[in-house]
Amino acid sequence: MENKTENIPLHVAVIMDGNGRWAKERGLPRVKGHEEGAESVRAVIRAARDVGVKYLTLFAFSSENWKRPQSEIDALMSLLVRFLKQNEHELHENKIRLRSIGRIADLPQNVRDELDRVIQNTASYTDYQLILALSYGGRAEIVDAVRKIAFKVKDREIMPEEIDEKLISSNLYLSDVPDPDLLIRTSGEMRVSNFLLWQISYAELYITPVMWPEFREEHFKQAIMEYGKRRRRFGNIE
Ligand code: FPP
Repeated sequence: MENKTENIPLHVAVIMDGNGRWAKERGLPRVKGHEEGAESVRAVIRAARDVGVKYLTLFAFSSENWKRPQSEIDALMSLLVRFLKQNEHELHENKIRLRSIGRIADLPQNVRDELDRVIQNTASYTDYQLILALSYGGRAEIVDAVRKIAFKVKDREIMPEEIDEKLISSNLYLSDVPDPDLLIRTSGEMRVSNFLLWQISYAELYITPVMWPEFREEHFKQAIMEYGKRRRRFGNIE
């Protein structure tokens, strides 16, 4: 696909689903699905940069994922650390800034250390951002924002009448990141699963039956092409 600047979404968010089913279909352990899924993460980061998507947010671990067996949680955490170690150079080569959203304090110390290290090392890049949602829940993010606002009201920094949509947006985890224009979900499930609830109000949805471990560059570019054909009206008329 040629790199056209018009109709390229500024921000793409992805619910990476289907790792477990992909593995099961092949008689493999679930962790193999996650490992292959990490390859798709690499491919999609590259494809997003290639077409000019400035912000890419990936749902890597939800607040609900803590309910999975400890062995799977441990495997996902090790995979994340390995991914960060093995791919940091690619972030530098492509000048991609890494950021995270979620209740990061819930993550094991070694994951937090590695994450902090790469976040610090890439903090000066301004063109592209890769945002990993970790221990993330959309409702929890809204709860955290409401709490921050409540404290400001209590401290008389703001008046209750001043609470509006802009103020709520500015108290979410990353207030400087624009709302996603496109939300991609793999594996065919028709759900938003507590992902970026506030921010996806006007996002275009793209749901594909392709399982995440098989979702690669061409699939991502297909989604971008499909987005390019959509008419976004934001509640207005044409
Ligand atoms: C959903 O598949 C995926 C996850 C719970 C985690 C996503 C993690 C990765 C893609 C691997 C590594 C991530 C990074 C950032 C390196 P599922 O297990 O829910 O699949 P299922 O619905 O088929 O069981």
